[in-house]
Amino acid sequence: MKVVQTRDDFARVRAGLAAPIGLVPTMGALHAGHRALLDAARAECATVVTTNFVNPLQFGPSEDLARYPRTLDADLALCADAGVDVVWAPSVTDVYPTGGGSSITVSPGPLGDILEGTVRPGHFAGVLTVVAKFFNLVRPDRGYFGEKDYQQLAVIRRMVDELDMGLSVVGVPTVREDDGLALSSRNRYLSDGERAQAVALSRALFTGAAASAAGAKAVLAAATAQLAAAPGIAVDYLELRGADLGETPEHGPARLLIAARLGSTRLIDNVPVEL
Ligand code: PAF
Repeated sequence: MKVVQTRDDFARVRAGLAAPIGLVPTMGALHAGHRALLDAARAECATVVTTNFVNPLQFGPSEDLARYPRTLDADLALCADAGVDVVWAPSVTDVYPTGGGSSITVSPGPLGDILEGTVRPGHFAGVLTVVAKFFNLVRPDRGYFGEKDYQQLAVIRRMVDELDMGLSVVGVPTVREDDGLALSSRNRYLSDGERAQAVALSRALFTGAAASAAGAKAVLAAATAQLAAAPGIAVDYLELRGADLGETPEHGPARLLIAARLGSTRLIDNVPVEL
């Protein structure tokens, strides 16, 4: 496994890589959810490249950029075990040579105005800008992203489609703890008490999904009732939308999505619902 930092070092390594190339962009703090992305890329691609970069552009001024976990040594061990070919762990100036950002950014369009976009203005422009840069620099055949960040996956798919980027975007199902909590690098912020309360998110989603035969209203009512019984959770949103994140359909594939805060930690999750 090759580990590189600068753009020039990556460019030199890139010149010798066999196609198809699978790219797994990450912000490090890797866990079994990332492992599933790497495994999917390994199964389908001749070369697996992963980026390990905490992207300042996608954090708001009052968000957790400073405390976001940085665990490069453990990340490299996980990548080696997963059979990754190249880990690119650039510095901020390797990615943004003029300093902390980019004067040109990629707009998520209307998909960026809903759900996470209402609570985290500018977040998806930051995500799309860094993902577009990595797509341009790595030039992968396939990019792998988790369904846990369902709206992120949707805006990336749309960017690739509408800007004719010419690669396949692969969505990988969410990996969960035994009690249902979706794996997230931010779970490590939770105190023991908050960790116990956090199971309420997935429980509400699964309870809602189980009511799908009775229609959209029943799904939301069941999930809301489940949450009402859970202490310590401040819900930012609980919404049922079409699988493409459009208006809720009467029938067919839909997605139930939640964002909630436990103390100073904000978690998101979602599940498929068949209406
Ligand atoms: O999902 C993430 O970890 C990040 O948003 C991504 C896609 C690596 C961009 O920084």
